[in-house]
Amino acid sequence: RIVYVDGQYVNEADAKISVFDRGFLFADAVYEVTAVLNSKLVEFAGHLERLQRSCRELSLTMPVAPAQLKTIHEELIKKNNLVEGGIYLQISRGNAGDRDFAFPGAEVKPTLVLFTQSRPVIDSPKVKTGIKVVTMPDIRWHRRDIKTVGLLAPCLAKEYAHANDADDAFLVENGFITEGSSSNAYIVLADNTIVTRPLSNDILHGITRKALLVLAARDGIKVEERLFTPDEAYHAKEAFISSATTFVWPVVSIDGKPVGDGKPGPISLRLRDIYVELAK
Ligand code: PDD
Repeated sequence: RIVYVDGQYVNEADAKISVFDRGFLFADAVYEVTAVLNSKLVEFAGHLERLQRSCRELSLTMPVAPAQLKTIHEELIKKNNLVEGGIYLQISRGNAGDRDFAFPGAEVKPTLVLFTQSRPVIDSPKVKTGIKVVTMPDIRWHRRDIKTVGLLAPCLAKEYAHANDADDAFLVENGFITEGSSSNAYIVLADNTIVTRPLSNDILHGITRKALLVLAARDGIKVEERLFTPDEAYHAKEAFISSATTFVWPVVSIDGKPVGDGKPGPISLRLRDIYVELAK
């Protein structure tokens, strides 16, 4: 694979980052994952906008202009012949030459890294089987709206899910589901209304979520942005998650209890279909 590191396209084996890089030492870095379908970027403008916001919130300077970021994405797609999968981008506060909590001066430039990931998005087996999720406490920090690489809590959540015969976790705070460990969470009520948590600092403002809510409204599907509990999710007709890596995946069980009839639901699959059409 050819990866991008600070202005250069190099073979992944030759890519180098300092041990003093603040992304490595402090998770002082932000990231984005943009889906690629038919060698084209999906919802790139949304990802760019969120990246700029994440940088602003952490006083991180964007190392290159937004238009150039798009060019680098497109170059990497070409250099790796990427047809389907995604591109990971990370900006860290750079290498200050030592370990010091305080921000370095402006002479320290941010580190920019991008790499491609080839994987089936359209024909993922999870679309047909759906996924099993378990609920667990949300132990993350309180700025989940900033897409930082401080991802130990979601790693622990995936581990916990796998140890409990599930694919993923729904995170719970103060009795309400916040989101999935790396996705937004939704339930579908008996009257086909979609319920998902409203935007705040408690969740990541998903780019896929934003597009899905527009598509749902256009398709005449009602959406309620409000809090919901694990108990309401157990009794929902359907549940699903969304992200750039999954698009829409149906959730067929929560804490070992089948959701609806225990099969991927029609609203989830319909939303997935219209999102795929948009992304193509
Ligand atoms: N994760 N919530 C969390 C906590 C996430 O990590 C993600 C995405 C989402 C969905 O956001 P979007 O639709 O913009 O991808 C929601 C990415 C895919 C990841 O960490 O790999």
